[in-house]
Amino acid sequence: MNANQIRQKFLDFQVKHGHKIIPPAPLVLENDPTTLFTGSGMQPLLPYLLGQPHPEGTRLTDSQPSLRLQDIDDVGDPRHTTVFEMLGNWSLGDYFKQEQIENFFTFLTKEVGLDPHKIYVTCFIGNQKYGIPKDTEAAEIWQTVFKKAGIDAKIAEIGTAEHGAKRGIKPGERIFFYDDHENWWSRGGGIETTPLGDPCGPDSEVFYDFGEDKQDVEKYGLSHPASDGARFMEIGNQVFMQYRRNPDGTFSELEHKNVDFGGGLERITAASIGSFDVFKISLMAPIIAKLEEISHKNYDNNTDEMRIIADHLRGAYLLAAQGLTPSNKAQGYALRRLVRRAILKALDLGIGQEFLAEILPIIAENYQALSDDILPYRAQVLSVLTTEENAFRKTITKGVKELQKLARSTREITGADLFKLQDTYGFPLELSVEEVYKMGLTLSEHYQDEFAAALAEQRERSQTASKGMFKGGLSDTSDQTIKYHTACHLLLAALQQEISPDIEQKGSNLTPERLRFDFNVDHKLTPDELQRVENKVNAWIAADLPVTFAEYDKDYAFDTLHAHGSFRDRYPDRVTVYTVGDPAHPTSIEICGGPHVTHTGALGHFKIQKEESSSAGVRRIKATLSPNML
Ligand code: ALA
Repeated sequence: MNANQIRQKFLDFQVKHGHKIIPPAPLVLENDPTTLFTGSGMQPLLPYLLGQPHPEGTRLTDSQPSLRLQDIDDVGDPRHTTVFEMLGNWSLGDYFKQEQIENFFTFLTKEVGLDPHKIYVTCFIGNQKYGIPKDTEAAEIWQTVFKKAGIDAKIAEIGTAEHGAKRGIKPGERIFFYDDHENWWSRGGGIETTPLGDPCGPDSEVFYDFGEDKQDVEKYGLSHPASDGARFMEIGNQVFMQYRRNPDGTFSELEHKNVDFGGGLERITAASIGSFDVFKISLMAPIIAKLEEISHKNYDNNTDEMRIIADHLRGAYLLAAQGLTPSNKAQGYALRRLVRRAILKALDLGIGQEFLAEILPIIAENYQALSDDILPYRAQVLSVLTTEENAFRKTITKGVKELQKLARSTREITGADLFKLQDTYGFPLELSVEEVYKMGLTLSEHYQDEFAAALAEQRERSQTASKGMFKGGLSDTSDQTIKYHTACHLLLAALQQEISPDIEQKGSNLTPERLRFDFNVDHKLTPDELQRVENKVNAWIAADLPVTFAEYDKDYAFDTLHAHGSFRDRYPDRVTVYTVGDPAHPTSIEICGGPHVTHTGALGHFKIQKEESSSAGVRRIKATLSPNML
């Protein structure tokens, strides 16, 4: 069975058991100050797991694309991926352990067709300090379920994973008790690190046995379900969310006990084809095959590289198809990193030419079953990502050339050298370090400190420069840029009047062609809001308001005139204040170095071209001015 079939079967199965399908949350989160990406199916359901009624009822299901960047360094082994799909089902105070365990076992054995003899499970051993009992209830349910399948499942106490590696498994054992590092689930991990206020509880994990010969005993010790070796792979986790952590750190039982189930679509599919390698499944194998074709190398001898490329490009596809573009800001940077790492690994395989255009259509084909609501920007993916590929290749070529130049005069590269490569050519540290080793050069022992020192020094320099900017004005003072500068002031005032008085400027960038303006707001602006802002700016332009300036003491400017300014601590004591409109009732009043036009009528027609996310809680507007049509 392929992954698309298993996803469908899971949803159908849950619907048969009274669940409603809910749309998955966006993978790329906007305006969430705590998290950049959705990392599990339960994340969007938090309020409902704490008791708020869900409009779709008490039984829900979905398949949630999830991203766990913290796993990026594990990619290359047979089972880790950065992006994966989490099959989920939830009981919000409805069914509990018995029905969940029976249903999941039925799904695996009857719907997917897994051999029950290859299924092993784990349960929570309990925690004395917090008075949480051992989950014998779950273990006993498992025993009955296995018995019905003709299997006499023995229970074993393992405790810690370290102990498991020494002890291994005794004949007949199939149900294992572990401590909270393995069998307690909260968004923060184990019991001690459960976030205050969060729902949490013991969990029961389900593993598939790929056979003793897969275990690398030398590296991982004897096999047991929670070991890192390749014998056992976790394919699903049933969290019995029956507790909530109190503000004082203790745990209380929730009034409504929930089930939060998450299963790895890719891993269940791998088990269904008997492969301990998730890169053999339908969502991955065609990518690998294409990589073999392009590189003229085979997967068996280049496994790590091909897994990383396949994983990262699939992740990049899913992120870009949700509208994310590569950038140096947190979320955009994650996307950039995926694309760049994939390109570097491709270079290791000898793929020196552009190749994303050959891979991305294969991934797009794989995800045709996901709806346009989940991947609204799929048509743009190819151009967004190949543009990034092209730019990065140029960066690499340039960076490698510079390193080669350096190598002519020294064999030891310092952190300051690496900083210069990054600062001047955009050649990132993680890559230059790899290149240095590849070229057989050495790195100075304290290169990380040297790099940090060079970075700090550069920050200092640029702060001094920007202090100068406030006094001395824009670096580019073409007439058109000056108009955009004034337009930024009007835009801020319009946002404050139309959207929220709390909006402040978070950054801006002007060219003779457009303005870019970042500001804090807690939501994506609606088309109606954008229209109102645009109309307001154009009304002020039509009124041809005067723009005047004068110098004041900083405190007077802020506290008495209520001038806006985003860098209070960094301004000098005397500041220039620019006012648009009647100074007694200003339309806009800002601390600013100028220069500006003298009358707003000079700006022409103002048009918002784009509104998008810039980083968590910060939106970005791009706008243009065009001459007024008469
Ligand atoms: N929320 C659980 C997990 O992420 C199902 O493993």
